[in-house]
Amino acid sequence: MKMDSKKIILTGLLMAGIFCQNVHSQDGEVLFKPCTACHSVGGGRMVGPDLKGVTRRRSYDWLVSFIQSSGKVIKSGDPVAAALLAEYKNVVMPDNALTADQVNLLLTYINGGKAMAGAADPKKVALQRKLDSLLLANSLQDITTGQDLFTGRKRFANGGISCISCHNVTYHGIGTGGLLAKDLTKAFSRLGGFAGIRGIIMMPPFPSMTVTYQRSPILDEENVFLQLFLKSADSQNATEPSANKSKFLRSGLVSGLLLVLSIFLVWNRRKRKSVNHAILKRQERYSM
Ligand code: HEC
Ligand code: HEC
Repeated sequence: MKMDSKKIILTGLLMAGIFCQNVHSQDGEVLFKPCTACHSVGGGRMVGPDLKGVTRRRSYDWLVSFIQSSGKVIKSGDPVAAALLAEYKNVVMPDNALTADQVNLLLTYINGGKAMAGAADPKKVALQRKLDSLLLANSLQDITTGQDLFTGRKRFANGGISCISCHNVTYHGIGTGGLLAKDLTKAFSRLGGFAGIRGIIMMPPFPSMTVTYQRSPILDEENVFLQLFLKSADSQNATEPSANKSKFLRSGLVSGLLLVLSIFLVWNRRKRKSVNHAILKRQERYSM
């Protein structure tokens, strides 16, 4: 049993390998050939499930991720993938080196020649391709644009305030940013590269940033320039600038003290107000 699943995976990998060499023929049916070792479309269950109707059973995005790397989807804790894996006796489907565009063609083929519901909008695909190529090119010009956006030398298209109002980045040895929030000099490695930074700029999990950019969202392209700038700053500095860190800690201490003080003041006033007011009111009522 164990041997069997290993053999299946090996065959799958081999086929994926052969198949990688001639993916140029961008045709769904051709792309589907290697899958036929384990799947049919309407011919019943084989090593893997019958894929007839799969385009209605699952969402487009799920299918793209699963076909590219079912292992990744399983690892992410996806319940559907876990159930499938259990049903198919823990045979992990081999990864496929397919672009989203190629998976799109495959799904169109499985769906009987029609584009699948929820399929990627070609405009969005084109934009994504452009963004990917900007990241790959990593040009000095784009890094500088990112720096200008960060520091406010260039305005964001939707008018959002510049990052430097709250964050410092040390670049070419110079760091003059705000100390309200974390130093971002090493953010690129801290957050695991482009995707981490992109996610935070797109949907910041921090209230002060969310409020700042909800009304004036950062464009995808601006996001890419900022990612490139932070990558460049990260590679210039082996460690986070310590001067800024201690300044940051000090400013944190000061704001912490201010917070305690203001809580104390409010609490004190409330206490006085609630007790005195209540007595006063009662007295007024009784005297009437
Ligand atoms: C080596 C065998 C094998 C090959 C080759 C293979 N698959 Fe699979 N596939 C499976 C197995 C087994 C499952 C069930 C899920 C699991 O065990 O992880 C599966 C599941 C799927 C699913 C999810 C089905 C559902 O009901 O949600 C899709 C979609 C899919 N495969 C598409 C493809 C495509 C497209 C290809 C070709 C690019 C392919 N598979 C190649 C074995 C394979
Ligand atoms: C109004 C202040 C403010 C502005 C403006 C702002 N941020 Fe933030 N940002 C924060 C706060 C607060 C956090 C949470 C971390 C902390 O407490 O320092 C944060 C966190 C981050 C983090 C995660 C840092 C880490 O390592 O965990 C990144 C990355 C980031 N911001 C990027 C940006 C970028 C890029 C911009 C400009 C587009 C920006 N921020 C503008 C306040 C701000």
